Amino acid sequence: MQTELKRVPIETIPCDAAILVAFEDQKDRLPAIVQELYESKEFSGKPLELALVHRPAGFAAKRLLLVGGGKPDKFSTADLRKAAGGAVRHLKSKSIKEVAVLLNGGVATPEGVAAAVEGAILGNFDPDAHKSEKNGNKSVDRITVAVPGGGDALEAGLRRGQILAECQNFARELINEPSNRLTPTVLAGRARQMASEQGLGCEILDQDRMQQLGMGALLGVAQGSAEPPALIVLRYRPESPAPGGAHLGLVGKGVTFDSGGLSIKPADGMEKMKYDMAGGAAVLGAMRAIAQLQPAIPVTALIPTVENMTGSRAQRPGDIVTSLSGKTIEVLNTDAEGRLILADALTYAQRLGCTHLVDAATLTGAIVVALGHINVGVFSSDDELRLKVMTAAAAEGEKMWHMPLDDDYKDYLKSAFADLPNIGGRWGGAVTAAMFLKEFAGKTPWVHLDIAGTAWLDEAKPHMAKGPSGVCVRTMVRLALGW
Ligand code: BES
Ligand code: ZN
Ligand code: ZN
Repeated sequence: MQTELKRVPIETIPCDAAILVAFEDQKDRLPAIVQELYESKEFSGKPLELALVHRPAGFAAKRLLLVGGGKPDKFSTADLRKAAGGAVRHLKSKSIKEVAVLLNGGVATPEGVAAAVEGAILGNFDPDAHKSEKNGNKSVDRITVAVPGGGDALEAGLRRGQILAECQNFARELINEPSNRLTPTVLAGRARQMASEQGLGCEILDQDRMQQLGMGALLGVAQGSAEPPALIVLRYRPESPAPGGAHLGLVGKGVTFDSGGLSIKPADGMEKMKYDMAGGAAVLGAMRAIAQLQPAIPVTALIPTVENMTGSRAQRPGDIVTSLSGKTIEVLNTDAEGRLILADALTYAQRLGCTHLVDAATLTGAIVVALGHINVGVFSSDDELRLKVMTAAAAEGEKMWHMPLDDDYKDYLKSAFADLPNIGGRWGGAVTAAMFLKEFAGKTPWVHLDIAGTAWLDEAKPHMAKGPSGVCVRTMVRLALGW
């Protein structure tokens, strides 16, 4: 989607549809035509409510679309992002191509411009890459953001919003790929291609290299599949790094299909396990944006990628593997594979010099039980880094909830035969998974984001298509930019 900022009244912009956000109980200071809609009760301004008017008097646009903003005093940039997304999704379904949106009052800021553009680009996405008729080619081609005035920072907001949303859509495309078309090898190839286009360093560790290094936890998961595993490493290095010596490591779970292995999953819903690489895709999306937005902190991305299958070489429940850290792990359940591959990636991240670690993973069904599909579960051993991540998430409108990780939970992770089991008991499954990872993060400040409930939308929302959400891309980029 093309984007443009214009400092002119929206009434003067010729386009297919002009979009205005209008609020509850707000009748004055609006064009007469809008006041009529309120008076006839066709529109009340409730969040994401829509009303379309043709040939609006006084507008150069062919149509006027009102989108509800709810209560004006509660309206945030997150609401603006959703409103822009809801408007674009409605208009594109009507084959409308060129739109303009007015930002005034409190949202004519760089943050507001970024949010509006993000909402529009995210709303324009459809997971239809494998349909012969791609949604009848319905998508909005161009959005003009009309603002009353303001400095150059608004243009920077426009650029940032466009980059963030395009990179989030890049992650969504990867997540949506079915597992026959996106194997670990294919994912590594896509990462390498993206890195070369964006000027990032890239190294792919293959099975032999991982064997030499001793990544027994990761390799154990991979051995049930005919598809070889890979560890994708991408490097962003700033021209002049900020003082302090921090080095951010972003780690993403890249299981291209999770059958559960021999501890096999039920058939019902197994098709969704193509999204078990959503954490890895989010890290790739974030790195693509980081390459363009150039934060002052060095960032290294690590994406362990495997397919969890049941082949005759598959690891068995009861197998004991030795991780890169030297710790031995008793694999009591082969379906708890994400933590095994992340364990080796977290250890390797520290060997590469990362001083702060953030991982994103579709790690547990238990986080979906705890938080539903609304909040990402946040686990951490370091309050300072956790607050940085959660502040970035709040600013990006990505909901996150702090979960416990105190040492009392250690009792839940006891193995009779190895240093650690890969599962705990019946209760607190998302916490025991995080406790397991904590053993491998060691003393390095680390935050774990469990996105099993939030990386995939089972139903379309007014502002987002059904399917991959691309959650965490924006949070990780803002974390790096704001370091
Ligand atoms: N990939 C799954 C977690 C998951 C569940 C993601 C639902 C998305 C939606 C993970 O590898 C897994 O299978 N975890 C097990 C752990 C259990 C065996 C301790 C789970 O959550 O059931
Ligand atoms: Zn699993
Ligand atoms: Zn999994």
